[in-house]
Amino acid sequence: MVLETKLLSPEEINTAAILLQQGECVAFPTETVYGLGANAYNETAINNVFLAKDRPGDNPLIVHIYDRKQIADLAATVPPAAVTLMDAFWPGPLSLVLPKSSRVPLAVTAGLNTVAIRMPDHPLALQLLELADLPIAAPSANLSGRPSPTRAEHVYEDLNGRIAAILDGGATGWGVESTVVDCTCEPLRLLRPGGITFEQLEAVVPITVDPGVYHMVEGVPRSPGMKYTHYSPQADVILVVGEQIPDKILELSQLDKYRDLKLGVLATSENLDAYAHLTVLDLGSRQDLKTVASRIFHLLRQADQLQLDLVFVEGFAEMEMGLAIMNRLKKAAGYRIVNS
Ligand code: TXA
Ligand code: MG
Repeated sequence: MVLETKLLSPEEINTAAILLQQGECVAFPTETVYGLGANAYNETAINNVFLAKDRPGDNPLIVHIYDRKQIADLAATVPPAAVTLMDAFWPGPLSLVLPKSSRVPLAVTAGLNTVAIRMPDHPLALQLLELADLPIAAPSANLSGRPSPTRAEHVYEDLNGRIAAILDGGATGWGVESTVVDCTCEPLRLLRPGGITFEQLEAVVPITVDPGVYHMVEGVPRSPGMKYTHYSPQADVILVVGEQIPDKILELSQLDKYRDLKLGVLATSENLDAYAHLTVLDLGSRQDLKTVASRIFHLLRQADQLQLDLVFVEGFAEMEMGLAIMNRLKKAAGYRIVNS
């Protein structure tokens, strides 16, 4: 199905809200990445989200709300620890997995009896949700497997002709998707690291980290999204970790087997000069992990535009924002990780 994808400015937000009410799929900005929204109660609209993204049917969607009063229709119960997290971090980049109500179609939750809910901290997103006055299910607005979109252009690149409209709100802030926490178990469980760090969560509720945050899990993961390849540019990606990262990347880049390839590196500002013979993309300073996080997906897409064949990426310590950064980089690299 080829649609004419409308590009809407913030002044045209009413059109976006009406399209959502009519059951169309509309991409919109949030403080993390662009989402591809649809009425969470409309099964046809939800199926069209999966079709537009080529998303596997067993990967559930996050439902976005603008007001906590909407939760009563979406969740069967709300554990006290979930309320503590809402008080501390909403609106913000935190999705809470709760027992689902019967009103939420199984198409949204991919057959699970739980539903992920979040209140985004972005003025346009909140305004759109309020105008539509519906809970909006929204995965990241990329083709499945591609880096998540942090600009309207990225959405257009992937979904032009597949969705009704894109509401353009400029570049998103965080650049990595929300933190996902399972609130249906005790202690709570971090399923996907994001802008709200494990350290921040741990300060207010008892919580553990799901092993799937660090590596590929065998069997059925608690968060279906964990098992899919993600964020992959066309180029191969190799993640280099450890104490001697620039030396190792230089050594690898000189290997005979890579001689005829176009090589690049996602490097921190501190090391830009170390890679004179490679195409260098600047991740920002190691001292500023928020900036690094916000650039990852854009730079992975740029690697494709530069037609790089192989991209080395510098690794980070897996703490605070570094946990979310490394989670995305490991997936982008298909877990090809070299120690230095
Ligand atoms: O920041 C974000 O969360 C963005 C913006 C648009 O809000 N959305 C986003 O959605 O990243 P998506 O679909 O790309 O990722 C949703 C993640 C997947 O890993 C999925 O498996 C997990 O949330 N998830 C959703 N519902 C779940 C549930 N009921 N139980 C466990 N994991 C769930
Ligand atoms: Mg996604």
